[in-house]
Amino acid sequence: MSYRRRGNRAYGIVTHRTLYGTREAADAWLELIANPAYRAPWLATSSELVRDLLLALRTLHALPHAKLVVLGCGDGIVEEAIGRELQRGASDPLSCVLVDSNTFLLGCAMQRMSQTTTVDVALRMDFERDLQEILRVCRRPSDRSTRLIFTLMGGTLGNLEATEAEFFLELAAGLRPGDSILVDAAVKGNAWSIDTDPRMRPDKYPPIEKRFLAAGLAGQLDVAAADVLATYAERVRSTVDIETGSSVPGCHLIRHVDESSGRTFARFRRYDLERLASWLRDSSGLRLLHHGSPLLSERIVSVAFFVLSK
Ligand SMILES: C[S@@+](CC[C@H](N)C(=O)[O-])C[C@H]1O[C@@H](n2cnc3c(N)ncnc32)[C@H](O)[C@@H]1O
Repeated sequence: MSYRRRGNRAYGIVTHRTLYGTREAADAWLELIANPAYRAPWLATSSELVRDLLLALRTLHALPHAKLVVLGCGDGIVEEAIGRELQRGASDPLSCVLVDSNTFLLGCAMQRMSQTTTVDVALRMDFERDLQEILRVCRRPSDRSTRLIFTLMGGTLGNLEATEAEFFLELAAGLRPGDSILVDAAVKGNAWSIDTDPRMRPDKYPPIEKRFLAAGLAGQLDVAAADVLATYAERVRSTVDIETGSSVPGCHLIRHVDESSGRTFARFRRYDLERLASWLRDSSGLRLLHHGSPLLSERIVSVAFFVLSK
């Protein structure tokens, strides 16, 4: 792929196929996650489970020769916490590469992450399409011994357009021994059923969430967000695939389809924790080192964390 490099930023051509294509969508997402409840699972666990996961990573990676590669950095709050945790006790600052398809979010993350890490480069690229190029940028000849620690957080694995198998196949092919990835995923809690899943009722979304999804859809269609929002309840429906559309057995894939354009504009996968863990162990091409979900019993949909290594 071709991209322009300006200082420690690089801009590739990205198509707006995620929910975060435009500035309007980024603003709507930032407004959405400003609600503390939205990030509660991440922030609640960051002190316990994530710390254990990161401890596993830290011992494995013998800092200082590590570089954090943040796929889908968003505003970088979660990853800044991870970076801080990874650096605990390390002598040298951690460097990082940020990747996001949204220019504005990339700028937010850059500002935030540079407070605790050295941002090598911020890449406006599509990690589903340009992963090999991203790997190439991360592995400069001068840092041959550097271990790469990838993160894919915020449930982004469950939103991928391609299957998990395609993503991991490509990632595993590009990793070297000692490289790793920390990934989280939305898993079904004990109270989950397809009928209780909030994603099955897009018409019942709180206004702020509807605004985000409408802005995301509008970005993909290149039309005004206000027009999509005004007609949202009539035009959007949820469909569900069980065991198709995902590589992972037992996964439900909920799609949001815009009936006006016929476009599937959002995907949300709901995993069974242990079946996802088994799949990652057996089929990702990587070694599953550690996993867990601390709030599983309490929630309809919870978050699980996985550390994998080559
Ligand atoms: C759910 S947010 C997660 C943000 C952050 N990692 C967190 O945990 O809060 C997903 C982010 O990934 C980005 N993203 C999604 N798919 C992408 C892709 N294929 N290539 C690049 N960025 C992508 C979006 O722009 C958005 O910023």
